[in-house]
Amino acid sequence: MPIDLRAEAARYYDLNPNVFDDIPFYIDRLPSPEARVLELGCGTGRVSIPLAQACAYLHGLDLSEAMLDLCREKIAKAGLGPERIAVEHGDITDYKLGMRFDLIIAPFRVIQNLETDAQLAGLFRCIQEHLTPTGRCILNVFLPNRPREELLKVWGTDEENLAWEIEQEGERMTCHDVRRRLVEDPLVLYPELIYRRWRGDNLLEEVALPIPMRCFYPDEFLDLIRSAGFTITGSWGGYAGEPYGRGKELIVEFEQ
Ligand SMILES: C[S@@+](CC[C@H](N)C(=O)[O-])C[C@H]1O[C@@H](n2cnc3c(N)ncnc32)[C@H](O)[C@@H]1O
Repeated sequence: MPIDLRAEAARYYDLNPNVFDDIPFYIDRLPSPEARVLELGCGTGRVSIPLAQACAYLHGLDLSEAMLDLCREKIAKAGLGPERIAVEHGDITDYKLGMRFDLIIAPFRVIQNLETDAQLAGLFRCIQEHLTPTGRCILNVFLPNRPREELLKVWGTDEENLAWEIEQEGERMTCHDVRRRLVEDPLVLYPELIYRRWRGDNLLEEVALPIPMRCFYPDEFLDLIRSAGFTITGSWGGYAGEPYGRGKELIVEFEQ
């Protein structure tokens, strides 16, 4: 198993005040309250816990033990037993549980962390092996904010941009992102998130999280899913129902 990239950064994840409100969307996509859900890359349980409260059972999987530790704490606080939710350490590109699910999700752009075609093939195998015959899967990525040629020009810098800042218990937390580098083919951005904790002007801690973000333009994302053998059943440009290709996200629902 690869090292835990998020070992130090995990505790900053839930502080981000800019996370979009995707939870009602996922609850709406449950086929029924009896549905069983597999969440790929469940992280700290941001979506897992409210979704588990609205369905029969949710199984979460994540590569980061640090994210899972926080998720387990939140599950215990929510008072949800193992018959309603279980999370485990594993790799979504190489996973076989031997159980099938009515809905498979990977919220907040998890699929973009997969850099290679081999990893994507592993993810689609995992989806095929865990969907019921009538089950559906929803994947989402961001819509790149610039055409490809422009992205190539603006990536590759050490300039920090403030992503968010919050005050908590007399301390200030900041998160900056840096557009470190990109690889052109396939197009993968390598941003670095730099989390800092301050008391006044004193820097108490600094943690850097480099993450791969493979990019897809609207038709490319649909083609990727179709060429893995799936049928598209819905597509949106955002969680408020924006048209596909015209919002900030590319959200695609599909079945076998
Ligand atoms: C941006 S976070 C999203 C977490 C959660 N889905 C949410 O919506 O808040 C991405 C998560 O995907 C996980 N992840 C990335 N690659 C993975 C892989 N190959 N297998 C399992 N989890 C992975 C990371 O550890 C991280 O927790």
